[in-house]
Amino acid sequence: MTTEEVLKLLQASPAHISGEQISKSLNISRAAVWKAVKQLQQAGYEIEAAPRRGYRLASVPDRLDAAKIAACLPDHPWLPNLQIFEEIGSTNTYAKQLAAEGAPGGTVILAERQTAGRGRLGRSFCSEPGGLYMSVILRPSEKPESLMHLTAAAAVAAMRAVEESCGVKADIKWTNDLVVGRRKLCGILTELSMDFDTRLVDAVIVGIGINCNQTSLDPAISDMATTLRHETGAAVDRNLLAANLVCAFYALSETLLSQKENWLRRFRERCITPGQDVMLLRGGEVRYAHAEAIGPDAELIVRLPDGSAESIASGEVSVRGMYGYTN
Ligand code: BTN
Repeated sequence: MTTEEVLKLLQASPAHISGEQISKSLNISRAAVWKAVKQLQQAGYEIEAAPRRGYRLASVPDRLDAAKIAACLPDHPWLPNLQIFEEIGSTNTYAKQLAAEGAPGGTVILAERQTAGRGRLGRSFCSEPGGLYMSVILRPSEKPESLMHLTAAAAVAAMRAVEESCGVKADIKWTNDLVVGRRKLCGILTELSMDFDTRLVDAVIVGIGINCNQTSLDPAISDMATTLRHETGAAVDRNLLAANLVCAFYALSETLLSQKENWLRRFRERCITPGQDVMLLRGGEVRYAHAEAIGPDAELIVRLPDGSAESIASGEVSVRGMYGYTN
């Protein structure tokens, strides 16, 4: 209890606070203050101790913590089904397995790092400690065709959660990467599992990977990616970010169709792909086009060199000047 009270005082003091002030405010001995500070340091809090000036909280431990996430989401219906792993192959693969075993919608899996993180189109997703790796199981009752735009809605939900957590205004690169400037901040992988008898969607797994507090990125992606730490100049609170993502995905699951006009408007406002030259990749075929607009189901409308327009709903769309596509 004393340790928590000392922590609260440190958190409330942007400048140094003396051991004497702490001992007087809490009515405890100086030795008890010192013991509490030691315990906090052992738990990963960085506390500077300066002679005559006292203590200053320099940073809090960067650990995913179910209690801290729960504190941001009192009584949230998804909290009972939140799991956090130190290391996992892929949160999406695990969530798929749980969904097949009957886990309820709103099951949330988080991991500090992934050893086999998966990206779109069978690619791997670099998942070093410091990032946020999360999968959510949704059990929508809509038909698969109504869910085609879930990926785009998920990008809007993630964008809002990022902005609310640390003020970073990301944009969307069609269909669901979050970018800051020309660099990737976040990738989303949406996977459907179908019930072939009823032709209904049995479960949707939304997997999201956000570059947060990594101090360096894998050389393979460092030229084309950014982190929240880089954008804000300081480590961000990943527990708050995880809590805001849970809220945003909960809202999405409740209102995917009823709020379509809202999220589609936000998607159009923040999607940077229209107006750009793009390279379209599907089934091994490469084509070049100019992206013109976002259609009524969040599909990308492009103009091909022969003047015809086409609606793109899947496959890879690279934007010229981004992620190493330059020629
Ligand atoms: C992409 O950019 O191609 C999508 C990347 C999606 C990565 C996330 S991290 C959490 C979840 N688990 C995975 O294995 N992949 C997704």
